[in-house]
Amino acid sequence: MGLISNFVALLPVLLLLVSNCKAQSSGVVIDITKFGAKPNADVTAALASAWKEACASTTPSKVLIPKGSYGLSQSNLKGPCKSAIELQIEGTLQAPADPKGDGLLLLEYVDQLTVSGTGVLDGQGKAGWEKNDCHLKKECTKLPMNLKLNFVTNSIVKDITSLDSKNYHINLLGCKNLTFDHVTITAPGNSPNTDGIHVSSSEQINILNTNIATGDDCISVGDTNKQVVISDVTCGPGHGISIGSLGKYSKEKEVVGVTVKKCKLTDTTNGVRIKTWPDSAVAFPASDMHFEDIEMVNVSNPVIIDQEYCPWNQCNRKVPSKIKISNVSFKNIRGTSATSVAVKIVCSQSNPCEGVEVADIDLTYSGSEGPIKSQCANVKPVISGKQNPPICGEPAPAGGPSSD
Ligand SMILES: *[C@@H]1O[C@H](CO)[C@@H](O)[C@H](O)[C@H]1NC(C)=O
Ligand SMILES: *[C@@H]1O[C@H](CO)[C@@H](O)[C@H](O)[C@H]1NC(C)=O
Ligand SMILES: *[C@@H]1O[C@H](CO)[C@@H](O)[C@H](O)[C@H]1NC(C)=O
Repeated sequence: MGLISNFVALLPVLLLLVSNCKAQSSGVVIDITKFGAKPNADVTAALASAWKEACASTTPSKVLIPKGSYGLSQSNLKGPCKSAIELQIEGTLQAPADPKGDGLLLLEYVDQLTVSGTGVLDGQGKAGWEKNDCHLKKECTKLPMNLKLNFVTNSIVKDITSLDSKNYHINLLGCKNLTFDHVTITAPGNSPNTDGIHVSSSEQINILNTNIATGDDCISVGDTNKQVVISDVTCGPGHGISIGSLGKYSKEKEVVGVTVKKCKLTDTTNGVRIKTWPDSAVAFPASDMHFEDIEMVNVSNPVIIDQEYCPWNQCNRKVPSKIKISNVSFKNIRGTSATSVAVKIVCSQSNPCEGVEVADIDLTYSGSEGPIKSQCANVKPVISGKQNPPICGEPAPAGGPSSD
């Protein structure tokens, strides 16, 4: 009795404490409508003004894009800001149909950023995809990406949706300690170069609980990255979850520490993949890459290391890749393959892969190309547990075509 009445007496104090906490965490809220933003009109200038005010706040602040549909041209939101800052997107931000600029939303040099909300970045990709020829040649028309994060640190991107980007959906450059959680990425399976999340020159990147359906790699971890964790991600349609391609350009540096776990890939052209270019412009290691607890549903190349990656003959296939792959594991990978060659490990002739472990692979193939198999070159993996197919049961044929 005494306890309960004490508690009842304390209630107003407790409520006050709770509401104070809340007020503190949302801090100053700046709604873009304060700067004249109106539904169905371009809000680029209003967003820039709201960002400027929030970024100058010495206490945590938030820019709010309320529900509704708004036009957005290229929007460059820059830090550093004076305190933590949140961009809460509840509405739909629609790119102009006419492809222009670098990105729809570009955030750079921001520390302690939160991008949140149930809103959508709509790249209006249909208008750009036919102009996108970057998958065919080195010099190509650069189309805008939906979200570019450059030099963003100690930050979180959660809940938002990226729809029909004209180019990559989300691109990271020079980021550190950045987490994606419950993000949705959607574009048609035949849209060119629409990688879901591309990570480069970054470290401590987490991509969690994210659903990706797109026309290129769901996630691509490019060069010069450290400590990337990809967990509880679904992918499909798309080209799978890839490390690489590595070695095409001379400024690239090593990739160390990528973990891909608890992911499900459905109807993708690749499952989990490491790809490096022959005749690489540079030599560097790619190591500590681990893939485990992955479910494949009708995936064309479920497990693949391809050090002869050279789509459209853009390189000299006769010169082996100088990228050294080591300390790689594929564990507990199960489901169905859409082709008979389910596990393919093709390493460099001049730099064979080292420390490759393959354990508990249980894949089935029901098509007409014959029994399920695994082909290898320049690798001697340590094999344990289930082996469907028998790992490295056959040598890989030389000069096999690579998949994009
Ligand atoms: C990483 O960023 C998060 C979110 O801002 C922060 O809570 C955490 O302390 C940071 N971790 C490190 C190691 O700096
Ligand atoms: C292999 O990778 C794991 C995880 O990234 C790391 O902890 C370990 O030190 C690496 N082992 C070697 C021999 O490099
Ligand atoms: C499996 O994938 C292949 C190739 O992508 C596709 O043609 C086929 O329709 C898919 N099968 C099923 C059952 O979805």
